[in-house]
Amino acid sequence: MNDDLKALIRTIPDFPKPGIQFRDITTLLLSPAGLATCVERMVAVVDGPVDLVAGIEARGFLFAAALAIPLQAGVVLIRKDGKLPGATIAEDYALEYGTDRIAIHADACAPGARVLLVDDLIATGGTARAAVRLLRKAGAVVTQAQFVVDLPDLGGAELLSAEDIAVAALVA
Ligand code: PRP
Ligand code: ADE
Repeated sequence: MNDDLKALIRTIPDFPKPGIQFRDITTLLLSPAGLATCVERMVAVVDGPVDLVAGIEARGFLFAAALAIPLQAGVVLIRKDGKLPGATIAEDYALEYGTDRIAIHADACAPGARVLLVDDLIATGGTARAAVRLLRKAGAVVTQAQFVVDLPDLGGAELLSAEDIAVAALVA
């Protein structure tokens, strides 16, 4: 069903490091129909009402904002550490090509806020798992996460499922 979207995503070999097959969604973003279809299909599988859509820097921001509008939800930013101006909580994680640290504003979520986590891609799942842990520390209820692309060989969706998250992706 999502072969139309898959065709809009290109693979760049050896970026950002030798051996990494980088799935580049900028080509999908360039397509008005592709972007609209992507958002429509992601919105269609959201389970129940959500108060906030959490987007992971950087490409996750685009999809989080696009989904939040039809879902009538707000947006919470999960950023690389050191970028948010207020008091934050942070979490370290391992990536397919290194390590990093992400943060959210400590007061971003009202207690019990229902949060949908969104990113462009899940690979090892390290980033998304760190994001879920941060959101929960901030008081959110996180039960679902959506991605445009899943790289199933890297096991990210399973890692996230082990955190009791229902995972959906458009393209594998
Ligand atoms: C990419 C992607 C996800 C993350 C997935 O972001 O957008 O956020 O990697 O990898 P994982 O499942 O192995 O954790 P990246 O860290 O390259 O940051 P960027 O979006 O700021 O370029
Ligand atoms: N993030 C982690 N691995 C990635 C990949 N192969 N392509 C795009 N983003 C990624």
